[in-house]
Amino acid sequence: MTILVTGGAGFIGSNFIFYELQRHPEDRIVCVDKLTYAGNLSTLAPVLEDPRFRFYRTDICDRKGIYEIFEQEKPEIVVNFAAESHVDRSIEGPEIFLQTNIIGTSVLMDACRTFGVERFHQVSTDEVYGDLPLDRPDLFFTEETPIRTSSPYSSSKAAADLLAMAYFRTYGLPVSISRCSNNYGPYQFPEKLIPLMIANCLADKPLPVYGQGLNVRDWLYVEDHCKAVDLVMRRGSVGQVYNIGGHNEMRNIDIVRLICHELHKPESLITYVKDRKGHDMRYAIDPTKIHRDLDWLPETKFSDGIVQTIRWYLDNKPWWGEIVSGEYQSYYERMYGNRA
Ligand code: NAD
Ligand code: DAU
Repeated sequence: MTILVTGGAGFIGSNFIFYELQRHPEDRIVCVDKLTYAGNLSTLAPVLEDPRFRFYRTDICDRKGIYEIFEQEKPEIVVNFAAESHVDRSIEGPEIFLQTNIIGTSVLMDACRTFGVERFHQVSTDEVYGDLPLDRPDLFFTEETPIRTSSPYSSSKAAADLLAMAYFRTYGLPVSISRCSNNYGPYQFPEKLIPLMIANCLADKPLPVYGQGLNVRDWLYVEDHCKAVDLVMRRGSVGQVYNIGGHNEMRNIDIVRLICHELHKPESLITYVKDRKGHDMRYAIDPTKIHRDLDWLPETKFSDGIVQTIRWYLDNKPWWGEIVSGEYQSYYERMYGNRA
């Protein structure tokens, strides 16, 4: 079987490609990635020479380029990870989020309709459900929770989900959607909370915690997400949404303290900065459906996963060191320069 993976040079997409090539040696992977600031071809170095792997540097919004790839490769499954994924950047400039996350998804689905596929799987996010209050720990996001977005990022992802369901109903495209909580693990771009705090700790730089650091995220190790997407795209029902999460809620401040502790750095590095606009308070996934229907359960405990992740960043400084010395510097200055 040929599986076309978009966004495979990014954080979750690259981990997914490694997972697939290892677990399903009979399958081929075709990766399509524009290589934006967040995509890094060096991440895929271990598989670039694998005869079961093929890479195309193409924008998912480029209809002609995408159709040519479909004609050439004839994928049976398409998994769409490609997206602009950082909430803070979406607040700074929404347009590219609408372009890639909405138009790009529609181009891919049109290609699926034109050439025929067994499955189009859309990788979505728990952020489409908005947020939950801190004083109601009994509430969780289920697949029936109404869409209620907060940021341009989550709004663009929600629009893509609605389009995907429209293509299912209108054209009968065999679509599935998964909505996962916050991922952590190797190859995450250092603009996101955990790798940013690790990189800053190692450089003895201030650790910028938004607001009071009381916002809660539901953390899942990236390989557990990959395993869930693999199950949904192969065995999940079409026209269905599956939530993915491991009941691992943590406050941001506790994550940052833990990273300081693991790296033997003083908590005095923690600096409270101006809050994110429209900052979601709490995310919490109810994963009952994917457990019941597909027998999925997370395998990595947070206490192990976070130590492995910190160890990975310690061992792979050239990978992220190069990133934080490039365009990232001006992003960091824009985002954090006047924030105190
Ligand atoms: P990422 O930003 O690390 O990677 C995104 C990848 O997409 C990059 O390789 C980039 O080059 C590529 N890309 C961007 N625009 C493109 C375009 N127009 N055409 C082709 N490729 C393009 O993102 P990530 O954290 O790995 O997230 C992957 C997916 O998972 C996204 O759809 C995101 O919404 C979703 N998601 C992420 C998380 C998380 O915690 N990171 C949680 C739930 C869902
Ligand atoms: O929930 C899934 C989502 O998780 C994905 O859809 C997004 O693609 C992914 O980026 C992530 O979104 P968040 O906004 O939750 O992740 P981020 O790492 O940007 O921030 C996590 C929390 O940490 C959030 O409450 C904001 C806070 N934060 C973040 C940064 C970068 C800080 O306090 N300081 C920071 O410097």
